[in-house]
Amino acid sequence: MKLSIAVLPGDGIGPEVTNQAIKALKAIALEFNHDFKFTKADVGAIAIDNYNNPLPDETLNLCKSSDAVLFGAIGHPKYDNNPAAKIRPEQGLLKLRKELGLYANIRPVKAYETLLDKSPLKKNIIQGTDISIYRELTGGIYFGEKHLSEDGNEASDLCVYSRNEIERITHLAFQAAQNRNNKVTLVDKANVLESSRLWRKVVGEVAAQYSDVDLDFLFVDNAAMQMILNPKQFDVILTENMFGDIISDEASVIGGSIGLLASASVGDKYAMFEPIHGSFPQATGKGIANPIASILSAAMLLDHFELLSEAELIRLAVEKSLKLDITTPDINTKFENVTTSRVGEFIEDFISNPNETNLNFTNIHLGQSTII
Ligand code: IPM
Ligand code: MG
Repeated sequence: MKLSIAVLPGDGIGPEVTNQAIKALKAIALEFNHDFKFTKADVGAIAIDNYNNPLPDETLNLCKSSDAVLFGAIGHPKYDNNPAAKIRPEQGLLKLRKELGLYANIRPVKAYETLLDKSPLKKNIIQGTDISIYRELTGGIYFGEKHLSEDGNEASDLCVYSRNEIERITHLAFQAAQNRNNKVTLVDKANVLESSRLWRKVVGEVAAQYSDVDLDFLFVDNAAMQMILNPKQFDVILTENMFGDIISDEASVIGGSIGLLASASVGDKYAMFEPIHGSFPQATGKGIANPIASILSAAMLLDHFELLSEAELIRLAVEKSLKLDITTPDINTKFENVTTSRVGEFIEDFISNPNETNLNFTNIHLGQSTII
């Protein structure tokens, strides 16, 4: 298959982790005879530095003319600590999601057998967890009207949803549930928010078309508690933009590190693949950022184009790296020197030699792995 992929590495650790995803995709292209073309462009703080615009036209046009977008991370402390900044890196990502119509953000969360001890949560609570979060991505409080009074003492952000915005992601969530464990949980705050009551009404109506899927409802405060009390109860979680943002960071604790969580952002026309983590400025350039979220986002890209064996091979390689502790320090307690690019190289190697069960892994963290 021929695919043109726009690569938007972004800020902080974005470039380092995205490079590892590209290595994995290139290895896949080689093994399966695909033709993947990668073109890079700036977004976020780096784009503000270079173009005074967090989403330059060149970048947006590249994304629109590509088959898919691979996104790194966005954000820089100089903006986080300056609430008065009018131009902010995050605007680049939000505009990109809106312009590409990426209304559904799919965030899989699972407890890897080999990482059960890495989570601060008890093993018996997280073991077997397998959740798919469907987060609405182009509406709600993120995109509603914003207001700051002239004297700077009053501010508001409006949370608006229309029936159509709710319906389209709800269909995707129910279809996903049909291929999973036939359960959708709508997370909202319908006891307080009018917008949540609209969600309940519309989701309830759509649910009637999916008689094989159970629907239940949870208020977001309770959902936050249930997520760490009994995450196994969830199959597909459907929720609005901000609740999805918060609950997915919380859910990442189950996997052992936020550096493992990938996502796909899809709409009717375009698709973008992005780790759920941020730009982790403190780690930039140190080689300690976990590239697995980005690599698994690349696997979701392959899934999107129905390259299922290819995606599966990436996941197998990731699982192997986790099993052998070829991982970065956020989850590695055994080896000290496994860098971001070392993990990428291991995964790349595995893709090229998936049947080589005799790799000599003892020195792999030093970059001295050999096939024996
Ligand atoms: C995410 C991030 C973004 C969001 C930020 C960087 C704007 O936290 O993708 O979860 O809030 O959507
Ligand atoms: Mg977030």
